[in-house]
Amino acid sequence: MSLSVVILAAGKGTRMRSSLPKVLHNVADKPMVGHVIDSARQLGASNIYVVYGFGGDVLKATLTKDNTGDDLTFVEQVEQLGTGHAVDQASPFLTDEEDVLVLYGDVPLTKVSTLESLLAAKPDDGMALLTVHLANPMGYGRIVREEIAGQQQVVGIIEQKDASPEQLKINEANTGILLANGGDIKRWLSNLSSDNAQGEYYLTDIIAAAHGEGKTIATAHPETEIEVEGANNRVQLATLERAYQARIAQELMIAGASLRDPARIDVRGKLTTGTEVSIDINCIFEGKVTLGDNVLVGANCIIKNSTIADNVEIKPNSVIENAVIEADCSVGPFARIRPGSVMKQDSHIGNFVEMKNTTLGEGTKAGHLSYLGNADIGSKVNVGAGTITCNYDGVNKSTTTIGDNAFIGSNSSLVAPVTIGASATIGAGSVITKQVEDNDLAIGRAKQRNVVGWQRPVKNS
Ligand code: UD1
Ligand code: CA
Repeated sequence: MSLSVVILAAGKGTRMRSSLPKVLHNVADKPMVGHVIDSARQLGASNIYVVYGFGGDVLKATLTKDNTGDDLTFVEQVEQLGTGHAVDQASPFLTDEEDVLVLYGDVPLTKVSTLESLLAAKPDDGMALLTVHLANPMGYGRIVREEIAGQQQVVGIIEQKDASPEQLKINEANTGILLANGGDIKRWLSNLSSDNAQGEYYLTDIIAAAHGEGKTIATAHPETEIEVEGANNRVQLATLERAYQARIAQELMIAGASLRDPARIDVRGKLTTGTEVSIDINCIFEGKVTLGDNVLVGANCIIKNSTIADNVEIKPNSVIENAVIEADCSVGPFARIRPGSVMKQDSHIGNFVEMKNTTLGEGTKAGHLSYLGNADIGSKVNVGAGTITCNYDGVNKSTTTIGDNAFIGSNSSLVAPVTIGASATIGAGSVITKQVEDNDLAIGRAKQRNVVGWQRPVKNS
């Protein structure tokens, strides 16, 4: 059975106090509606209709930025006349045969497994509802059941504002998420009326219509309430963020990673971990990050879009972005590895070393206080403390090339473009502007002059 998903996203989100449409507010660096689209795709939806009302341009631009998929269709709901009216905007696109799942752009944490249980629950000639039992169902539509053939069957949904005191005691609440056949849903929506307490076209009225046609209304339930919670303001958004992070932390630990404190890690993207990985507190992972086996990440590290191979230790307070770190390397503490950097096997970057667009060869070490930019550094090189590649002349960037086994004395400036040969030695404190041949020693500094009997100045009285 083919599946289309209609995502309601037309609400303005006034309580966010933001110019951004509500559904574009982020959970883990991704718009809430982006999480919902991801779930729809994981379910194998062939078409996804996003019903929007405000900020259509920014919505479309944001949601199509990183994806060229043609499964997304944006449908405008010019006036917000209710949830039934909202789904009906997608009716011209829906086919009679397919299943149609209704999701909400501000409810980002519904698990795919929960939605799969909803798909499985739907009878061939009926529909399925996701409901939840709440201690305090205040504000929610209530699920009305009647005994039919010895079973408590769903016969309708009554909104809070339309409910009788007796109905308000029902604690089975409507999450809003439902699944029905395309032909059925279009027919039911075309017959909705707005004759109710809010003067809206209620999506929930289709349940009574289904029951009236003798169809069975099955129910499925989420594992936890947070799965069906939405965010109307930034407090609720922060609650969703923490719940999402707790879920990811749990998944990482189940997959075998040790988290020193699962409440103090943030994953804003996709983190993949090998075996025996240990992550200390306050680390942030952004984009796509892969950690190999036996990787240790110290406290307060930020790692973005990077691949880190086996047996690497990232010491505390290191920042790594768009980099590849091969096996057995060590980084930090306080290292900054910027985009385009590659650390070959068993190399080492120490404290206050910055790398950018630089390759560090196998076994090479830069232990202290360096800037290595646009450099191609061979294997087993020793980069002394304070070495600077002067890669920028104010207009252009130039490359520094250093051969295998070279020794760069401390506090050297390598003025690019420049090449240092294999096994060459640079005397400490040198400013190197010309090529150094293999095996040579280069010293580029003023000769030391000692003044005998030097008198220090005295203070003027
Ligand atoms: C709805 C349900 C209620 C359920 C609750 C769960 C109806 C009539 N009621 O109530 O049974 O318990 O959700 O949260 O469906 N939207 C549009 N266009 C509109 C109206 C709404 O896109 O014209 C979107 C909103 O942006 C929001 C969602 O649909 O994301 C739900 O709308 P809302 O008005 O909040 O419905 P509730 O009154 O909460
Ligand atoms: Ca609501």
